[in-house]
Amino acid sequence: MNQVLEVIKRRKSIRKYSSRAVEKEKIIKMAEAARLSPSASNKQPWRFVAVTDPDLVKQATASALGSINAWARSAPCLMVGCSVRKDVITHWIAEAASGVKFHILDLGIAMEHMVLQAEALGLSTCWVGWFSERKLKKILNIPAGWRVVSLLTLGYKHEKLAPKTKKKLPLEKILTFR
Ligand SMILES: Cc1cc2nc3c(=O)[nH]c(=O)nc-3n(C[C@H](O)[C@H](O)[C@H](O)COP(=O)(O)O)c2cc1C
Repeated sequence: MNQVLEVIKRRKSIRKYSSRAVEKEKIIKMAEAARLSPSASNKQPWRFVAVTDPDLVKQATASALGSINAWARSAPCLMVGCSVRKDVITHWIAEAASGVKFHILDLGIAMEHMVLQAEALGLSTCWVGWFSERKLKKILNIPAGWRVVSLLTLGYKHEKLAPKTKKKLPLEKILTFR
């Protein structure tokens, strides 16, 4: 059985959670999955803030995520993905020359590793890209030199939720061989 593909197929964005707290050991396993990710020149420009304190989750979701992501208020945990862009060659010269933001790409890879590890542990997630970075940094006391790239809501799916399966493009549309 292709276990990785099974987990990938099972994953869906979940926007309604039960109140059950997320175990610290599972959060640490997710961080381990991120830690082992590939990154441009192995610069590992990621830092993660796991928000489990209910007051902070409430403040962050109510104030920094705004009404468009109001659903996030049911999540018992947030995983905030930040970048530290320190390496002059990889993060400035190579990014300027190629036009590709390697440090953002690296964060995306690491955070999706987390998503898949969470799914494999019976947890559910949803990426959140729409938020106020300024408010989030203030609420969570995130260092000034870090950028918040994206965050994940994290928790156990609400038992009454029947998640929708999103339509995906067919293989022949996205893959060509040469
Ligand atoms: C970078 C990124 C940002 C996203 N931002 C949001 C968001 O702010 N709010 C939201 O409800 N979903 C957000 N999503 C989730 C997408 O809407 C979702 O992945 C897409 O509709 C496909 O559904 P699926 O994840 O169930 O396959 C985001 C996804 C990604 C990858």
